[in-house]
Amino acid sequence: MYAGIDVGTTSVKLIVFDWEGNIVFRQSQELPISSPKPGWYEQNPEDWWAAVKVLLSKLAKTKIEPKIIGLTGQMHSLVLVDKAGNVLRPAILWNDQRCYLETKILTDQLGGEKVVIERLGNPILTGFTAPKLLWVKNNEPEVYKKASTFMLPKDFIAWKLTGKICTEPSDASGTSLFNVKENKWDEEALKVFSDSHIQPPQVVPSQAVVGEVVGGVTREIGFKTRPLVVAGGADNACAALGMNAFIENVMVISVGTSGTVILTNKSYVPDLTGRVHTFRHVINDMFYHMGVVLSATFSLDWFARLVNNQDVGSLIEELENTKPCHNGIFFLPYLSGERTPHKNPDARGVFFGLSGNTDRKALTRAILEGVGFALRDCRDAIQDLVSTPKVAKITGGGSRSELWIKIIASILNVKLERLTKNEGASTGAAMLAGMADGAPIEKWNQVESTFLPVEEWTKVYEEGIKYYRELYSSLKELMS
Ligand code: XUL
Repeated sequence: MYAGIDVGTTSVKLIVFDWEGNIVFRQSQELPISSPKPGWYEQNPEDWWAAVKVLLSKLAKTKIEPKIIGLTGQMHSLVLVDKAGNVLRPAILWNDQRCYLETKILTDQLGGEKVVIERLGNPILTGFTAPKLLWVKNNEPEVYKKASTFMLPKDFIAWKLTGKICTEPSDASGTSLFNVKENKWDEEALKVFSDSHIQPPQVVPSQAVVGEVVGGVTREIGFKTRPLVVAGGADNACAALGMNAFIENVMVISVGTSGTVILTNKSYVPDLTGRVHTFRHVINDMFYHMGVVLSATFSLDWFARLVNNQDVGSLIEELENTKPCHNGIFFLPYLSGERTPHKNPDARGVFFGLSGNTDRKALTRAILEGVGFALRDCRDAIQDLVSTPKVAKITGGGSRSELWIKIIASILNVKLERLTKNEGASTGAAMLAGMADGAPIEKWNQVESTFLPVEEWTKVYEEGIKYYRELYSSLKELMS
């Protein structure tokens, strides 16, 4: 049995597969998130750990004991601990927008954006880890002084499970302290901090066994055996792997809290415009390009809360007879700023085209389409770098809606495949556990259904994307 644990933003998920790839256990545990100021997002790492223990204890009660556990989780979020292993402050999350100034300072210290991309493979962006570290240094010096290392969320769980501190290339890629091409920490970037008291974690391959779950934890959970733990990978890399992205030129679209478009590549091709990330994949010696929409299902969840706490499923059900760009309403889904292509933490959400006749349906449909247009921006930015295929896999919570998939297929004008196991990153993490044991993971997931673009809609959306882009250009000055 192979388990995958995903330390997500809204919940921790646990999934367990048998050797053949059947799902034998699947549960999740909601997580609190706090926003102490507008644009700030934090979580307590101990809440992640408590959720992991609840889930593993539930698993133990079913008498299923995984042989190997694979880990995945939100990227970039900063966990700071002291020598004794105490968490020093809440984790600053990937979607937190407080560090704009720090990205500028770090970029300047390293010689400007061009040099940074050449060194690290990516620009230093607000959500990434290094600017958060600098923010803590400048704003909470007492906390910073006590820190002995930094961790990414899934690595914090690996440490709690095994007592070993390490990370792996796919998550290290998103720290702005790692040379993606050379696959190692970048000395120059680390020197910017010039604080020898903070040591970066050791980098091991994503499929490497980190250690065994320590005895105290297995007893607390109720396991009789001590599973092995593999390092695992960043949630986007694992979500792609779970969608069978073992080889190059596989495109995966994920519609989760954030939305992403990923394309795997055997070659290292950094984007010198800095719009698209180039990160290491969880398959050794492979890379992927990624465009990120910061608020995908987050936008719909926000709207659902606003309109009397509607359930998102019923909001989408209302849309049966609506048309593309219904009532001429457009939505820019920049509720937490936007990464691709704008790199603008000050971008903000917009509804445009409202009239006295605008109803809830038009607004909901505009949100699904706005996220679709934002994903199109990501795909097109990747397309400017390397050619993209006409077929992609779709995953993430949003892919439960066939209407949303059809909208995205039509806006991107690609065929979309939904697979039989559509559990997101946790599947990829379990696959990494399976790989470490030689399980036939290539056969675990198959195409379940295929969605073609709707020709009529594609025509409307070709005009719609121009309008959507024009809208941001017109408002850009107000959003900086
Ligand atoms: C990727 C990113 C998000 C998080 C979500 O760069 O910031 O997709 O990984 O967990």
